[in-house]
Formats: sequence, structure tokens, C-alpha cells
Amino acid sequence: MLILGRRRIWNNRAGPSDPATMNITNEIISAYIDNLYVNENTDLAELRVFAETHNIPVIRRDTEKLLKVIMKLKQPARVLEIGTAVGYSSCVFADCCGCSVLSIELDEESAKAARSNIENLGFTGQVKVVCGEAGAVLRGLDPAAPYDLLFIDAAKSHYREFWDLAMPYMRRESIVICDNVLLKGMTASDECVTRRRDWTSTRRMREFIEYISNLDYADTTVVPIGDGLSISIIEKNESIT
Ligand SMILES: C[S@@+](CC[C@H](N)C(=O)[O-])C[C@H]1O[C@@H](n2cnc3c(N)ncnc32)[C@H](O)[C@@H]1O
Repeated sequence: MLILGRRRIWNNRAGPSDPATMNITNEIISAYIDNLYVNENTDLAELRVFAETHNIPVIRRDTEKLLKVIMKLKQPARVLEIGTAVGYSSCVFADCCGCSVLSIELDEESAKAARSNIENLGFTGQVKVVCGEAGAVLRGLDPAAPYDLLFIDAAKSHYREFWDLAMPYMRRESIVICDNVLLKGMTASDECVTRRRDWTSTRRMREFIEYISNLDYADTTVVPIGDGLSISIIEKNESIT
């Protein structure tokens, strides 16, 4: 019944009038929430402005606020991040709860820029950037040093692979957060998929959400904030500590 229900939503004909510009949130509400955003760390605020001005992808303001609240509630000692870009979210995590962060970035130039930003912002002792393809890096992590929180924010078609490869390193009661899971509405409705090239990533994201929503060791919710966040708690798993 539930599966049928979800399929019906994907094929929902009553979609937005202009799917190409679809935003998953109401613009008035988003603007209101963004106006409440204050970053007390002026260096981080500058890095955000730099990234936004230069079209470098960083977590959205509303997403950042939610992540910070979750971090402060969870107080993770060790965070694993997939997708560093220029190190903005890594520094936000380190700044808001004093955790250590291991962040994985495929692109060499971005990893270099991230390391430089991390040093300039004074987080060298807390944040380490590993340059490489996340799948390969994850296979080589130390299973004796598990993580309390995983943030996935990289190649959207590979979330399932990243999840499965990272899971052996996640503690019991750890949290996994994935960004952009609603893909501007495409995950929820065929009406929002206007370009042929988006079908594969949309199908893969739908499969991923279906997968994590039905795991017996995790409890997951999808939150319509930013471009959609999935938040999961890893409750039980034989392979994790
Ligand atoms: C959205 S950006 C990350 C933004 C960052 N989390 C932040 O909010 O500041 C996604 C990054 O993931 C990287 N990426 C894409 N595919 C990857 C992969 N397979 N392994 C590691 N990094 C990858 C991209 O190069 C890009 O810099």
C-alpha cells in the first residue's frame, strides 16, 4: 500500500506550473527563515559570502541552521563528511560543537582551497581533508575509529554506495544526514523532471530514499528544508559498535 502510495506521488499530474523553477519550499517562508540567519563567526560568514558570490556550492542557510541545532543536541565527537568543496560545512561543524571532522573531496583544487580555508579559520587541528573518490577513501578507513555523525553532500547518484560503504564506521545511535535528497522536487514528482538527463539521478535518489526508509537498523525522516535533507538515526546494526 505504502509503495503504491509513493508511486502515485511520483506520477502526480497536479505538479507545479513551472517545474523548471520548482523550489521545494515556499519562497516567502524561505526568505523569512533566511532573514533570521546570523553567523556569529565572522570568518565563516565571509567564507559563505565568498562561496555564494563565486557560485561554489555550500550548504544553504536554512540547512546550516538545522544542522547546527542537530550537532548541538547530538554533540558528536567525530564527524565524517562526504563532499568538502571549499571546507565551509566542515568548518561550521568544527565551530559549532568542537568535533573533529574527516572530510572527503574528489576535486584536487577544491581540496587545496578547503585546506587553506581550514587553516585560515583556525580549524587545522580539528578538520582533515582527504582528497580522493569517496568510495575508495571509505574502503580504506580505520574501523577501530567509528564516527558519531555522517554528512553526505556529494555525487547525488552515489548516495546508496556512500551510505553502504560508510555504515561499518558508524557508531550505534549515530546520525546520518544527506543533503539535496529532494532534488528540486524531482524525487517527489515526475512533473518536476523537465530534462532527460535528470532521470537517472532522480531514479537513483528515489531508490536511495526508499532503501534508507525501509532499513530495519535505521529510522529516517525526510525534511523539506533547503533542497531536502534526510535525517537518519542508526539504531541497531550487528556490524557497528
Ligand atoms: C555540494 S559540494 C559540498 C559542499 C560542502 N559540503 C559545503 O556545504 O561546504 C559537493 C562536493 O562533492 C564533491 N564530490 C563529488 N563527487 C564526489 C565523490 N565521488 N567523492 C568525493 N567528493 C565528491 C564535489 O567535488 C564537490 O566539491
